[in-house]
Amino acid sequence: MDSNKRPEDMARITTKELADAFIAEQVALVREQVGDKKVLLALSGGVDSSVVAALLIKAIGKQLVCVHVNHGLMRKDESENVIKIFKDELDANLIYVDATDRFLNLLAGVSDPERKRKIIGAEFINVFADEARALEGISFLAQGTIYPDILESIKQAEGKKAVKSHHNVGGLPEDLDFELVEPIKLLFKDEVRVVGEALGLPHAMVYRQPFPGPGLGVRCLGAITRDRLEALREADAILRDEFDKCGLAEKVWQYFVAVPDIKSVGVKDDSRYEGWPAIIRAVNTTDAMTATIEEIPYPVLHKITARITSEVPGINRVLLDLTPKPTGTIEWE
Ligand code: XMP
Repeated sequence: MDSNKRPEDMARITTKELADAFIAEQVALVREQVGDKKVLLALSGGVDSSVVAALLIKAIGKQLVCVHVNHGLMRKDESENVIKIFKDELDANLIYVDATDRFLNLLAGVSDPERKRKIIGAEFINVFADEARALEGISFLAQGTIYPDILESIKQAEGKKAVKSHHNVGGLPEDLDFELVEPIKLLFKDEVRVVGEALGLPHAMVYRQPFPGPGLGVRCLGAITRDRLEALREADAILRDEFDKCGLAEKVWQYFVAVPDIKSVGVKDDSRYEGWPAIIRAVNTTDAMTATIEEIPYPVLHKITARITSEVPGINRVLLDLTPKPTGTIEWE
């Protein structure tokens, strides 16, 4: 049987009972595959790697070594939350690597989106590989591969062209020849979430909106600078906070702020105030191939605008992106 093919009679995991049965089965399979050896996992804090981490902690406890690489392009408080949940609450064997300077130094002056993606993807592998080499006795690499990833690679192998080069872990250097552990590779995203909740992960983490691998790097448009990146992070946190408060966070598929490398003239405290605009984007989609715009109520937009322009240094205007996909892609880069 092709282990990368979902059996036709496999029931869709929609309930806690089905998820519990899946978890019990995978715990047994992982224990059998791994024995007393150690497993390494790149834990980004995204839904897939988080669910794999929780599943493996249940199966093999401290034999799992999680590495969380902060590339400096995470959203506000994101790395702190990963540490809180996995290290403090689940007692995971977690290594935290703050590689902000490595990434931002390499990205300095680079404005082409695909070059930015390539640099971030390659450096991610470098940092992770450095950590892996420094550890002793690792035999396995766990990955949060899910079924759509497998279907996507089949499509790419058939020669269909992608619009953007999405990066995920994989492609480690040859000296790091680990056997793979991929316990959720036959699951669809909705099933991964049900399994995550059954494993006791927080609802907000399991239902977290998608966040691209290159993170805020493709939302700090053009060449990234530390001050504009910081303004973007703060503005994005305000948008998320206001969406949480008014219930839109539960409803909208993806919402974020992008900050272009443009300054306009504004006024603050009776003085000329040049600043960047914060662009708000909120979209709904089922498969990310096309997307429609969420209609954010004007009072919410006013509140977000007032907060961003008063609380975030460097931002003097707020703009709303009303473009569906196509013609806009979801991200600006
Ligand atoms: P686009 O911009 O292509 O986005 O309409 C579709 C979905 O993919 C996400 N995205 C990425 N995810 N690495 C990722 O892991 C990337 O480089 C990347 N670029 C876009 C985007 O956030 C949206 O959910």
